[in-house]
Amino acid sequence: MGAPQQLRERAERLRQELERHNHRYHVLDDPEISDAEYDRLFRELVQIEQKHEDLRRDDSPTQRVGAAPLDEFAQVRHRVPMLSLANAFEEGEVLAFDRRAREGLGIDGVEYAAEPKFDGLAVSLSYRQGRFVQGTTRGDGATGEDVTPNLKTVRSIPLNLPRGADTEDLEVRGEVLFYKSDFEKLNARQRQAEEKVFANPRNAAAGSLRLLDSRITAQRPLRFFAYGVGFAAGAKWRTHSDMLERLAELGFPVSSERRTAKGVEELLVFYRDIEARRETLPYAIDGVVYKVNRLDWQAKLGFVSRAPRFAIAHKYAAEEQATQVLRIEVQVGRTGVLTPVARLAPVTVGGVTVTNATLHNEDELRRKDVWVGDTVIVRRAGDVIPEVVGVRKQGPRKAEAGFAMPERCPVCESPVVRLTGEAASRCTGGLYCRAQRKQALLHFAGRRAMDIEGLGERLVDQLVENDLVKSPADLYSLPKETLANLERMAEKSAQNVIDAIQRSRSVEPARFIFALGIPGVGEEVAKILAGHFGSMEALRKSDWSTLAMEKENVRKQNLKRRKANEALLHVPLEGIGPEIMESIAKFMQEPHNGGVIDRLLDPGHGVRLQEAAAAKPARPGAKTFVLTGTLAGMSRDEARALIESHGHKVVGSVSKKTDYVVAGAEAGSKLEQARELGIAVLDASGLAQLLGKR
Ligand code: IVH
Repeated sequence: MGAPQQLRERAERLRQELERHNHRYHVLDDPEISDAEYDRLFRELVQIEQKHEDLRRDDSPTQRVGAAPLDEFAQVRHRVPMLSLANAFEEGEVLAFDRRAREGLGIDGVEYAAEPKFDGLAVSLSYRQGRFVQGTTRGDGATGEDVTPNLKTVRSIPLNLPRGADTEDLEVRGEVLFYKSDFEKLNARQRQAEEKVFANPRNAAAGSLRLLDSRITAQRPLRFFAYGVGFAAGAKWRTHSDMLERLAELGFPVSSERRTAKGVEELLVFYRDIEARRETLPYAIDGVVYKVNRLDWQAKLGFVSRAPRFAIAHKYAAEEQATQVLRIEVQVGRTGVLTPVARLAPVTVGGVTVTNATLHNEDELRRKDVWVGDTVIVRRAGDVIPEVVGVRKQGPRKAEAGFAMPERCPVCESPVVRLTGEAASRCTGGLYCRAQRKQALLHFAGRRAMDIEGLGERLVDQLVENDLVKSPADLYSLPKETLANLERMAEKSAQNVIDAIQRSRSVEPARFIFALGIPGVGEEVAKILAGHFGSMEALRKSDWSTLAMEKENVRKQNLKRRKANEALLHVPLEGIGPEIMESIAKFMQEPHNGGVIDRLLDPGHGVRLQEAAAAKPARPGAKTFVLTGTLAGMSRDEARALIESHGHKVVGSVSKKTDYVVAGAEAGSKLEQARELGIAVLDASGLAQLLGKR
């Protein structure tokens, strides 16, 4: 039997009221009732829904607290692809954009809509008959992840819209982000709970939106801003600005910084106005976006490759601020490299409090001439670690305020060396050095290496500080009790880590090689090595100087053969340059490393390498790809599988022979090399398109 009519009506009324108050509080920033009153109404609805199953609804505000964790996100193909924007960094590029728009439309003056470019995460929200039914991430633009339960927890996303012709089937696009103030609070909370601290609001938003447990997302004050529509049956708006007005009317947050501008001059005024107020905006932005306002003109201009011709992002330079150097310390990385780090008087740069910045290495530090007490300019760009750009004002400089690279490692006191021709100074302590050991263990356990879930920073810290683990091989003889006795470890979590270590015992050879942390040996190189040497034995015993010579010979022969139009010979270890070869040779010669590998591969003790799948020979006409950075919506393994399934090959380093570099976020020197050599650069969706995946 269903609930009485009166209760049914009360539940409906409570839902409407709660959503109205949500909107007033989270979107309009103008609450009508107190928090206590809101909680009272909320609890009343929870009670009704608990008692009466037939009164529960998916789109009830009570569902904003999150739902049971998922195993994984479903992949959803976007009905209309989520495109990206072309970037302009200089005024000239904006003038050119305007000229192209005018020429394309055959008119003199174009009206534009201008708005901030939010530095968050793009999502698409689907509404049917006015109800929020599905929300997805952008993914690679063609396919995203279904993160509906997480998006339901975002209070500023309406779960119900007023019914109208345009809300029957509507897909709203916008950005999920953290306000800078909420981000600082979140990080403070994370720090206190000894949980992961996020580098910037964008990373925090990405991490929070992609949590499988939406109950945790619910505790993170994410926000949403609408900036467009993917699909709208029955829409009447004719311009972008009218569309945004309508979205606001429907209850979506839209930026109050939006304007229309007549002609390019007004765009540039808008750009400068927002730039002047950038620091004071509640959210981080990385530029502004200009869009041709009339939608029929947008359609007329259309798209080039994957970006619209009718819109452009005008980016701001990385933010810079001045602050004082309090100390200069030295950090020890995984391979022993010592990095001087400036400890700074806290300063907000791009919405994030910065307290330290890298000085890269001794030469850089000397070039910039940074001393303790100096006022320096600090720059933060997107996801990158803040860096000191230079000195603005010299402090009172006394000899002791200058920096000297320590002669002994600050962590393990082993001698520090700086090889000729190298910028970096290194601690020679190897795994004896606690700092290196910690980093090496974290790398070994990483998702792309041995994938030992639960072996995070906090646990590794304790294992190393208490001398429980001296090398990765020790992980395989860790008793559960030892783990369970550590701080903040319960029986259950100890068991989970033990299980994860067990699972890692059977591993693909390439992962194992990558996990060893040989300097210069990333995933791609590890795969090439695993494919070339049938066994770990062969890899360890190989004579690298002979190999290098062989390679050079084949290369020379191939040069001749190419001139003579003859078939080319197979180059051994193609894609692995001489520096990496030397690094591998050095690593293998080190007796300590040999000992660790022996113990890891000891049949009674450590891991077992799986049979390597036979590498497919490349077909004629095969192209050579290099992968770099974090690809959007596609793991490296997926990208490699996709490339190889088309008969092409993936190599580890960029050379003149590389056909394509596929670059994602945080791509580094390989991307630069590609640009220098004029090699085509693709992103993940460009790759998918090239290979005709969809
Ligand atoms: S419009 C067809 N407007 O920028 C173009 N995008 O590079 C659709 N973004 O993934 C995007 N603020 O996440 C548009 N006001 C804004 C934006 C914005 C941020 C992001 C968006 C998209 C990326 C495009």
